[in-house]
Amino acid sequence: EPVQLWGGRFSSGPADALAALSASTHFDWRLAPYDIAGSRAHARVLHAAKLLTDDELAGMLAALDRLAADVESGAFTPTVADEDVHTALERGLLERAGAELGGKLRAGRSRNDQVATLFRMWLRDAARRVAAGVVEVVEALLAQADRHPDAVMPGRTHLQHAQPVLLAHHLLAHVQALLRDVDRLRDWDRRAAVSSYGSGALAGSSLGLDPAAVAAELGFDSAAANSMDGVASRDFAAELAFCLAMLGVDLSRIAEEVIIWTTAEFGYAVLDDAWATGSSIMPQKKNPDIAELTRGKAGRLIGNLTGLLAVLKAQPLTYNRDLQEDKEPLFDSVEQLELLLPAIAGMVATLRFDTDRLAALAPAGFTLATDVAEWLVRQGVPFRVAHEAAGDCVRIAESRGVGLDELTDEELTGVHPALSPEVRDVLTVEGSVASRDAFGGTAPTRVAEQRAAVPEVLGEL
Ligand code: ARG
Repeated sequence: EPVQLWGGRFSSGPADALAALSASTHFDWRLAPYDIAGSRAHARVLHAAKLLTDDELAGMLAALDRLAADVESGAFTPTVADEDVHTALERGLLERAGAELGGKLRAGRSRNDQVATLFRMWLRDAARRVAAGVVEVVEALLAQADRHPDAVMPGRTHLQHAQPVLLAHHLLAHVQALLRDVDRLRDWDRRAAVSSYGSGALAGSSLGLDPAAVAAELGFDSAAANSMDGVASRDFAAELAFCLAMLGVDLSRIAEEVIIWTTAEFGYAVLDDAWATGSSIMPQKKNPDIAELTRGKAGRLIGNLTGLLAVLKAQPLTYNRDLQEDKEPLFDSVEQLELLLPAIAGMVATLRFDTDRLAALAPAGFTLATDVAEWLVRQGVPFRVAHEAAGDCVRIAESRGVGLDELTDEELTGVHPALSPEVRDVLTVEGSVASRDAFGGTAPTRVAEQRAAVPEVLGEL
């Protein structure tokens, strides 16, 4: 028998088109276990306020346990007549506890404070799952860095060859961004750990119920300090949507590099067969679909954030039905990331780098020109002059089609009298990389230090 939570003052049921528009169980049913947990906590505060006897509390909790088991097994599911997850579970409770006892649970709560609480509970669990998925990607990057402690490559700015760096340094740069993404999720949780239960529809409860007790039972740090804010605010959802979009953007930057690196022109790396796809017409193709889907889904995650912000903008306090539109963007962002993260981790972990090619390309494009300038600075030449001289070296080497280390002694001193043949000592990729040994630099000792600090950072998150 269909249950409606608000039938009393209406002479007819909702029109079909209204019911179809209003229904949300196709996406909010995933809140069901949290709704039941909230109901257990609510039953206990009703009991503490002497609104349920000992027997009634026991009967209510037993009925909720049966309902939870039936939801879990799939024996109880929402019907088309159930407006939302709360309505469906009310029906399930009435069927199990009987209308007399079951009908007592709704006292002192509203779907408005319920849904704001349950949504936070779902999101807090989801954020933990996403963070665990990010850690898997971090571990894949660390494993690659560990596999290639000395490999060098051309570091780029403007996508042009800039200065040689260690491959491990490049991989660990992505690790740093992902560690901040995890940190952001953890930090978000601190603000999200507030329960709206007790806010009622908007004005709070008159029945002597203790919001703090419900909050504690549901794993929150506190109850909403203002019942109107408790039902109206969704910045917790928007903020998490940002954290997830930012994560998507960070992942897309890894993805874009994998796409470029695996082209014939770059040839930095090869994708493992299990983590690449083929073409239905071109037999030779090996496509980086995981990376491309990552890049594409980053756009989707940004869309979910901006869509939610647009829903929230200018809504008057307190609850408006618009707020029902808060859930799908977040559910979608989480769902997409739960698909993406294991795939990216696998793709990164199995990437095979061509370290010979990386090493050969590392000095190409005169990436050691800065080293010439800095060598001159160490000889007492002002950097402005040294920069010019190194630029002259590049011009001469380029016109002769040789590397900087192949300039003759005469060519060097012709550019600047201080440019003695000893400058060639720094004109190797290894020498260049090793010289950048200040904290955070690409020298092997600094990269090893940076790598070693990651588990500690992760441990603190
Ligand atoms: N399903 C709604 C939501 O997700 C909660 C119900 C509130 N409905 C209401 N008429 N006050 O926001």
